[in-house]
Amino acid sequence: MTSEPVYLCRLDELEKDAITGGLLPCGHRVAIYMIEGEVYVTDDRCSHGDASLSEEGTIDGCQVECSWHFGRFDIRTGEPVASPCTQPIQTYRVTVRGGSIYVAVGDALRLAPSSELCPGEDG
Ligand code: FES
Repeated sequence: MTSEPVYLCRLDELEKDAITGGLLPCGHRVAIYMIEGEVYVTDDRCSHGDASLSEEGTIDGCQVECSWHFGRFDIRTGEPVASPCTQPIQTYRVTVRGGSIYVAVGDALRLAPSSELCPGEDG
């Protein structure tokens, strides 16, 4: 199911190579990642527990590591890539327009195939 993208935040609110917490209009918390100039958005809550990835996570390449138990997710797809995480987290399609970031909330997706390279990654 797709929906019109909803406004999330301004691009200049994001720090480079960092994770910023954000709220969808419905109040759902998301984590916004700026990696080498590309913006990615996932659910904020780690699927293993209640950790906030924007507060407790660290970026390592295209992965986010949750500091509670060191589980990891691929930021592009939401897939778990290190235990104890076994359940994916939701990712959101991102549109950057006029210096603002919009996400497609109704779009339950796994956008990037796992073979897709992270910006700056060599083949
Ligand atoms: S709560 Fe995130 S790895 Fe356990």
